[in-house]
Amino acid sequence: MILTTKSELFRGSREVLRDSYVPSRLPHREEQIRRVAEILAPALRGDLPSNILIYGKIGTGKTAVVAQIRQDIQRRSDLASGVTFITLNCGNIDTPYSLLQTIANGLAKSDAERIPTGWSLDRVQSGMRRLMDTRGGILLLVLDEVDRLVARSGDNILYTLSQINTELETARLAIIGISNDLKFTNHLDARVRSRLNEEKVLFPPYDAPQLQDILRDRAREAFREGVVDPGVVERCAAYAALENGDARRALALLRLAAEMAERDRAKRITPDHVVKAKNRLEQDIIVDCCRTLPPHCKVLLYAILQSFERRRNGVLTGEVYDSYRRLAERLGLQPLHARSISNYVSELESLGLIRATIVSRGRGGRTREIIVDVPISETMPALEEDPLIAPVGRPKPRGQMLLTNFDNPARTDTF
Ligand SMILES: Nc1ncnc2c1ncn2[C@@H]1O[C@H](COP(=O)(O)OP(=O)(O)OP(=O)(O)O)[C@@H](O)[C@H]1O
Ligand SMILES: [Mg+2]
Repeated sequence: MILTTKSELFRGSREVLRDSYVPSRLPHREEQIRRVAEILAPALRGDLPSNILIYGKIGTGKTAVVAQIRQDIQRRSDLASGVTFITLNCGNIDTPYSLLQTIANGLAKSDAERIPTGWSLDRVQSGMRRLMDTRGGILLLVLDEVDRLVARSGDNILYTLSQINTELETARLAIIGISNDLKFTNHLDARVRSRLNEEKVLFPPYDAPQLQDILRDRAREAFREGVVDPGVVERCAAYAALENGDARRALALLRLAAEMAERDRAKRITPDHVVKAKNRLEQDIIVDCCRTLPPHCKVLLYAILQSFERRRNGVLTGEVYDSYRRLAERLGLQPLHARSISNYVSELESLGLIRATIVSRGRGGRTREIIVDVPISETMPALEEDPLIAPVGRPKPRGQMLLTNFDNPARTDTF
């Protein structure tokens, strides 16, 4: 039999159903696109727009809308020559230091201009200001998932950025914050809140008919004609509408349903494939969630999984911190302080990956005991595939032979 990779279902690239793809049309977000574009319009005339906070639950199109507006503004290059977008996903950034460094390095035109690791925070800040002034014009800083940055490191960094215009000479900065925590501004200092909140745009969840429109657009682009059975789009939309009206979830269901159909060597995608996809998705969400954690948080999660796998029992935060520190050092990373790691424990808990309960240690005070809430057999290999974790991951068995150190079992311990 000749194996062919040509799909019978997909028209061309599968990327059309992936998160990174920015579709040309975003149905049911016309009002939000108009509002955000209107607020940013002064930038095209060289004037500083207001800061904006964009709110909405997960998968409501916040990132996609801003990406589309960015493309639109950049396309009008004659008008937009004095406008520079800097887009950061704060979910992947560990510290205020790396935030400033990433902003600065995004503006650097050559390696010589880039800010190396090891400078003091003040020096990074003035280096960043210099790069901003060298670029000049209007800088639009998109801080996606800004709530995660604040939960991790507080709002000092937002204060610094929101008053930076008083220190810039030729450039002017406007901030576009994106958050899926609707109460995010309650945690901000009043000064920061009023500066960031100059304009607010809310993204409501999609209902089932709206999700159907979004899916139909994508299905038309992704699949050959006639391969999607009636009921498929409706079922994906119905499941996702129940789960907070999340378009990402709806698209993931459609993509996975297609993969299930391919696995069955079916010529069409049926509603049954959507049911199978829904079951599979629960597992995949965990793996994806691990993959998008910031570096130190990944190392921490791996340390927790390793300890938990050995013990098959709850592990205390002190032990977890020691394991984390050893792993970080082996990876050549400067370990973060216990306080930051404690914030990451809370973050992993809010993502539903672990559970942490406070336990009393007699006179020794109180500590937290951590229990892993995901299947270790799938989560560990997923993390070990990550280039960051791979160097400290468990050795993969080669060929038929599995080497075990029977003489000294302690040596098989990875710590
Ligand atoms: N109106 C829409 N039309 C077409 N596709 C959409 C629409 N809204 C969202 N999507 C798609 O759904 C997925 C999720 O959207 P997006 O990443 O913008 O959500 P988000 O609000 O930023 O979510 P999060 O808060 O989790 O970051 C993306 O693949 C995006 O292209
Ligand atoms: Mg987003």
